Amino acid sequence: MTRAVFDPITLRGLEIRNRLWIPPMCQYAVDAQDGVPTDWHLMHLGSLARGGAGVVTVEATGVTPEGRISPQDLGLWNDAQRDALSRITDLIHAQGAQAAIQLAHAGRKASTWRAWGPRPGGNVPAEHGGWQSVGPSEIPFDGLEAPEALDAAGIDAVVAGFVAAARRAVDAGFDLLELHGAHGYLLHEFLSPLSNDRTDEYGGSLENRARLLLRVVDAVRAEVGEAVPMIVRLSATDWAEGGWDLPQTETLSSWLGAHGVDLISISSGGNVADVQIPVGPGYQLPFASAVRRSSGLPVAAVGMIDDPFQAEQIVALDQADVVLVGRESLRDPNFPIRTADALRYDMPYKPGPYERAYR
Ligand SMILES: Cc1cc2nc3c(=O)[nH]c(=O)nc-3n(C[C@H](O)[C@H](O)[C@H](O)COP(=O)(O)O)c2cc1C
Repeated sequence: MTRAVFDPITLRGLEIRNRLWIPPMCQYAVDAQDGVPTDWHLMHLGSLARGGAGVVTVEATGVTPEGRISPQDLGLWNDAQRDALSRITDLIHAQGAQAAIQLAHAGRKASTWRAWGPRPGGNVPAEHGGWQSVGPSEIPFDGLEAPEALDAAGIDAVVAGFVAAARRAVDAGFDLLELHGAHGYLLHEFLSPLSNDRTDEYGGSLENRARLLLRVVDAVRAEVGEAVPMIVRLSATDWAEGGWDLPQTETLSSWLGAHGVDLISISSGGNVADVQIPVGPGYQLPFASAVRRSSGLPVAAVGMIDDPFQAEQIVALDQADVVLVGRESLRDPNFPIRTADALRYDMPYKPGPYERAYR
């Protein structure tokens, strides 16, 4: 019997074996602070592909050195990083999954301590590998230093960074590209009036605040051509008065569709500290469903989806086209195999050497 979550999905001619995907998850594991993936990333991402996911997405990867969240982030601004990433795409492909990478610029939330180990708080000082952050305006994120506001040349350099990283990503064998427009990082900072008070063509109206993201989408598409599916990840809301919200997300998503974006991944939050978020199973799913309905685009849902039947139901009831499973995949990289087992779906790509575990 088929199962909705195990139905293939095709984006721009790329057939993906199912709709249970791995979202980007920063490992903060580049101890050399050079942005080059290590054996940790190979093992981590390879095991997620082996676990049966349709797409494995590589974590937020800085398109420039200043675009990293922490000094231990992955980067994709040079050929050594590209070549090391190509080992990872080979391994993901060898397990039958497709490889995506989230291209990111952390903006005013850059140069922070990695999310595990000692975390003194605030920005990372230069002697520990830190740097001056940049943003749309000189408005700091709570607890961090004020960013330098990007001027026109700085904005052009950000766009060029995304374009060069997208080229290297495709050359490294990635099948899909994801642009990080969520979680209070640079592209989201431009979108939200709470972090963007510019008075030029990048601030003010929704059209102006969306200009940078749409520029990046167009420039990346021009660089990589028509064959590569492009995902944009958005925060549907800042969860804060006067901030980015669902109606703006819906309008922007329609524009992104018109600019050739193939799928919107709907998350939330990250641009304002200390907000009340009603976290619970599938708590961001209604946002994804709303964007799906209004934009007509395929959407990915994420957030506390960690049960096989919940995942199946979301796709079967047309609430989202793809389900992203984050933390549960860290706890159990074989979550898709376990889901198939629970749904009594005979997964044709269950790894042979593991078969006896599921009889
Ligand atoms: C360790 C970790 C790292 C993360 N890194 C990223 C990231 O690089 N980019 C991103 O957009 N979201 C990131 N997220 C958010 C996840 O992609 C996901 O949206 C979130 O964990 C909610 O899904 P879940 O409840 O299934 O874990 C991260 C989450 C975790 C737990």
